Amino acid sequence: MLNKKSVDDINVKGKRVLVRCDFNVPLQEGRITDENRLVAALPTIKKLVNDGGKVILCSHLGKPKGEPKPELSLAPVAIRLAELLGQPVNFAADATVVGDNAKAAVAAMNEGDIVLLENTRYRAEETKNIDTFSEDLASLCDVFVNDAFGTAHRAHCSNVGITKYVDTAVVGYLMQKEIEFLGNAVNNPKRPFVAILGGSKVSGKISVINNLLDKVDTLIIGGGMAYTFMKSLGEEVGLSLLEADYLDYAREMMEKAEKKGVKLLIPIDTVVSKEYSNDAEYKTVNRGEIEPEWEGLDIGEKTRELYADAIKDAKTVVWNGPMGVFEMSNFAKGTIAVAKALAEIDATTIIGGGDSAAAVNILGYGDKMTHISTGGGASLEFLEGKELPGVAAANDK
Ligand code: 3PG
Repeated sequence: MLNKKSVDDINVKGKRVLVRCDFNVPLQEGRITDENRLVAALPTIKKLVNDGGKVILCSHLGKPKGEPKPELSLAPVAIRLAELLGQPVNFAADATVVGDNAKAAVAAMNEGDIVLLENTRYRAEETKNIDTFSEDLASLCDVFVNDAFGTAHRAHCSNVGITKYVDTAVVGYLMQKEIEFLGNAVNNPKRPFVAILGGSKVSGKISVINNLLDKVDTLIIGGGMAYTFMKSLGEEVGLSLLEADYLDYAREMMEKAEKKGVKLLIPIDTVVSKEYSNDAEYKTVNRGEIEPEWEGLDIGEKTRELYADAIKDAKTVVWNGPMGVFEMSNFAKGTIAVAKALAEIDATTIIGGGDSAAAVNILGYGDKMTHISTGGGASLEFLEGKELPGVAAANDK
């Protein structure tokens, strides 16, 4: 249970409520290509509107590095949010985020109105958590709500700094839901509990592997990071991704798994290619048989079966990171097989955000999963067992 005050614990009628959302959505030529984060933010916004709050939304988008970048404006988000909510969202275009436009827009609000501020990262102070911007944001509101789970691993002005300057700082429904699902899965799982980790680098998942080995019954490794594990067993990996500095670490993790009685699975066959391209020749080879000029880009068929079998009786599964280069169809079969296996089992299935969430949605299995996190880095840090600053900063119950 999250021991933080939430939107259910406050009265917002007639108050100016600043809500930090994570509207960091992918854009192509001004078009939003994945609106899951917008949809996930709706319950909190609707609740505050229905309760008569003056709802001021804010978020970052991309990395404009402290200056206005028109292509990273939140303007398209305001348009789509208005459609999703069925009510106007007044976009306060303001190069300094809290400038004259934003102040005037907020001053003109009635109960139930919605204003969206400009990209918080247009301000250089934002990512450095410098007080001037935190104070500016706080000056716009009476109450602060943090519903940006995807940004909860950052300590920035708009999610952490601002809490110094407001009396009431609570979390929203999305934040509660994310922590509940991820927290229950990790700390109170129905067993067998299986974690599947993929993605390119071991170095990005060091703490998560270590932490999960204390919790799971089975740990499945795929993606680029599997080659460092193979190499640590003395096997040839050709030109596959390899982090030579992490060979000892990989060996230690395998020893730790053995001591704890955790089944740690690494691929038994690999789809290899001579080039990082969907047009290049490719074939499947057994583990230990990757030739010098070839690189592994996906798990092979036998591994897909092995992993599906390891998942089939699980009662809780957490998945973070694709099994191969799923953006290229020739190397997507491993990721598809894992998504399909998860979709077919009777278990709580939690998808860490980022690439695995995108993969599950693109492959059409989204509605078959128990929970798809809106946080990439945030869900990973949560799985590492770290305290998320964005959550910690809210008022305790
Ligand atoms: C994310 O997309 O993971 C969050 O919005 C955080 O974005 P950031 O990595 O740019 O801080």
